[in-house]
Amino acid sequence: MSQTIPLSDFTQTQLTELQAGLDREYELIKGNRVALNLSRGKPAADQVALSDSMEDAIAGDYFDSTGTDVRNYGEIRGIADARALGEELMGVPAANIIAGGNSSLFLMHLVTATALTHGLWGDERRWSNSKPVKILAPVPGYDRHFALTQSLGIEMIPVSMGSDGPDMEQARALASADPAIKGIWCVPKYSNPTGCIYSDQVVDEMAVLPDVAAADDFVVLWDNAYAVHDFNFPGRNLKSIFDAAQAAGTADHVVQFASTSKITFAGGGVAFVASSERVLKALEERLSFMMIGPDKVNQLRHARFLGGRLEQHMQAHAALLKPKFDIVEDTLSKQLGDLDVAQWTQPGGGYFVSLDVKPGLAKAIVSMAKEVGLTLTPAGATYPYGQDPDDSNIRIAPTFASLEELQTAMQILTLCVKLASVREQIKTLP
Ligand SMILES: Cc1ncc(COP(=O)(O)O)c(C=O)c1O
Repeated sequence: MSQTIPLSDFTQTQLTELQAGLDREYELIKGNRVALNLSRGKPAADQVALSDSMEDAIAGDYFDSTGTDVRNYGEIRGIADARALGEELMGVPAANIIAGGNSSLFLMHLVTATALTHGLWGDERRWSNSKPVKILAPVPGYDRHFALTQSLGIEMIPVSMGSDGPDMEQARALASADPAIKGIWCVPKYSNPTGCIYSDQVVDEMAVLPDVAAADDFVVLWDNAYAVHDFNFPGRNLKSIFDAAQAAGTADHVVQFASTSKITFAGGGVAFVASSERVLKALEERLSFMMIGPDKVNQLRHARFLGGRLEQHMQAHAALLKPKFDIVEDTLSKQLGDLDVAQWTQPGGGYFVSLDVKPGLAKAIVSMAKEVGLTLTPAGATYPYGQDPDDSNIRIAPTFASLEELQTAMQILTLCVKLASVREQIKTLP
């Protein structure tokens, strides 16, 4: 049902009629017993299948381009061919990259835990030298960053996200005033969940933040998980923080992450961490207590499969993903567009759409959806400690569902948004 006037302009009769119609629709769906899920930020089966032929990339040849036998132990920083792939993916020289195992999240944990207990610079600086330890968390943001941070006993201070990145004035004010603030989480391209891309100015300001910060061990944690995950090509450019940090003299304080989790196999990819030689040395030392070398066979497979054809491969993903994001946008704008009950993002890539409903309604909408068989990411998950102060943000993850499932799921979601908004609006009537 499409409307042409904002809900706030509806008369009492119009609201009551609308509510009755929406209630009927809701009860009908309840009877249908659907089981849908828009909470899974993972690639669909047809996406992972794009990399099935990677299996043939070894074909009995286990030596990388430098002659390393990938079947054996060693090469703790990863094989040269994988680091060259990291260069292609991250736009950072291979010499500044460690290619690791299948998870960048693991490497983020390695970096934060190392910063806490052993320091990243081979000197006396450790985050744990004084308590409390705090990190800036742009919100809405990635729930696993928050969970990781919390698990290490680090406090999180929210910073607002805008359409071109975090509010840098706020970030600067906080970091410069409090030496307990040791870093900031960033997802600079197709941010999780808003889908925004940091502007050149934000990148430049982020690169100098370690200098502005009161702490002398401040770290920009640059999780470029969606570096090449555009829907249109050539892809959108993100200014290089590596270059900006070199220019600003802060290279020791910027650590970047990426992985092929959403390029090849989410459960069997290759992850990368990039920084200055000093930081890589500290990480290598910690890693050497955990393993004798990464899975180099998988690294070689990836380097051979993706090397030189990354964009072509991402175009194949885009062909599968774009129609899904189109369904999300079309349904949101058709169903909610004129009612003025929600705002949402229209990302040009990545994995998520961020939906903001009227304050106080997100939890109610998520549980209304659950009641009729649609699982959404729990309201609040995009905020530290699971607490969205406005209770308004809902993360939509459209990638895993089929097109048909997504159509139905979006109808249900928008129905729940409308119904909750109408109920709320009726409450305001005299
Ligand atoms: C921003 C962000 N970083 C990291 C990850 C996980 O990456 P990995 O599979 O390399 O651990 C995700 C997955 O959703 C993500 O959205």
